[in-house]
Amino acid sequence: MKYNFDEDVTGNVQDTIKWGEADALFGGEDLLPLWIADMDFQAPKPVIDALIKRAEAGLFMYTAMPESTLEAVASWLSERHGWAIETDWIRFAPGVIALLEASVRAFTAPGDRVIVQPPVYGPFGSVVSALGREAVHNPLKQNPANGKYEMDLADLERKLRETGARLLILCSPHNPVGRVWTKEELAGLAELCVRFDVTVVSDEIHADLVLTGKHCPLVLADPRMAERTVVCLAPSKTFNIAGLQSAFAIVPDDRLRTVFDKALGKKEPNPLSAAAMEAAYREGQEWLAQCLDYLRGNARFAVEYLAEHLPQARCVVPEATYLLWVDLRPFGIPAKSLKTLLVQEAKVAVSDGSIFVGEGEGFIRINLASRRARVEEGLRRIAAALGSANGG
Ligand SMILES: Cc1ncc(COP(=O)(O)O)c(C=O)c1O
Repeated sequence: MKYNFDEDVTGNVQDTIKWGEADALFGGEDLLPLWIADMDFQAPKPVIDALIKRAEAGLFMYTAMPESTLEAVASWLSERHGWAIETDWIRFAPGVIALLEASVRAFTAPGDRVIVQPPVYGPFGSVVSALGREAVHNPLKQNPANGKYEMDLADLERKLRETGARLLILCSPHNPVGRVWTKEELAGLAELCVRFDVTVVSDEIHADLVLTGKHCPLVLADPRMAERTVVCLAPSKTFNIAGLQSAFAIVPDDRLRTVFDKALGKKEPNPLSAAAMEAAYREGQEWLAQCLDYLRGNARFAVEYLAEHLPQARCVVPEATYLLWVDLRPFGIPAKSLKTLLVQEAKVAVSDGSIFVGEGEGFIRINLASRRARVEEGLRRIAAALGSANGG
């Protein structure tokens, strides 16, 4: 079927965090929400149908993960990413953050160091510190020739040697900078992880939201990583069902899985999340293909719009995700004033760069997963507010 991503779904969004809580959280009024990573699109029709069917059965008892759902996950990974897994490597959790927490508890002790690569998804830092571990930063660096971020492996090698960190949390593809790490880049990282005996939590939640290029699962970049990697995945971002709370880890190595299991404990899905996950992976492909086309269009549109209307803002079209990472440092506006300007003048709720574990001050992250007219309205507001702050 043909999906219409230009449809306005905002008649039904008041109980969502993205729409319902933006004003209170950002301290503004009538803000256009372009922040938390949800899409303003209805989920795929097969997911909606599966939920209705499961609800109509009327049985909502404690639910075991059906084998058919695990098989749907395995088929998806094999067909989409060329990764053959066994279903008993899969561990369910209500969210990726729970999997990150379990990994940090499983593979480190309080006081240990954990490598993260900022600017990166904020909970990578907060999960580590909340558990009494210390985040060691291996910042990404921006290539001045094309504006793209790259890993700094020389810095990583130094940090591994100097800090003794033996756990690394990888974001692949990367939120917020939108990189799809190449097989070669991942192989370079893997080489260091093997050399320094590092375990990796590879958060690949955005793996299916690739706009250009191809996602390479870390364990395929270097087969030696299979014995030292916990891969975190979910249908939540891919099919816009984050509120249904389902995610899973894939832990190919028996020894690692035993340690991980102890930290995670047994987590069961709820009947609706299991039904949605299975339908999404079995029948969500058509929706996803159309959604990705629409998102590619939005990403191109946004970058061109900013180049034309706010040329001092620096950004590149993301290779993955629907999140646009924009450098506003050329405006020279202090961080606090920038926040106020965006909320009070532009009336938009965008993610402030400072929440991405350091390295993000002066940047914003704009969520582009909305109907194009709304994305345009958001960009228009941002350009007008910054343009006039800049005397333009
Ligand atoms: C890289 C990354 N990991 C994890 C999450 C959140 O996962 P969950 O809602 O499953 O805990 C997000 C949400 O934006 C994310 O971008």
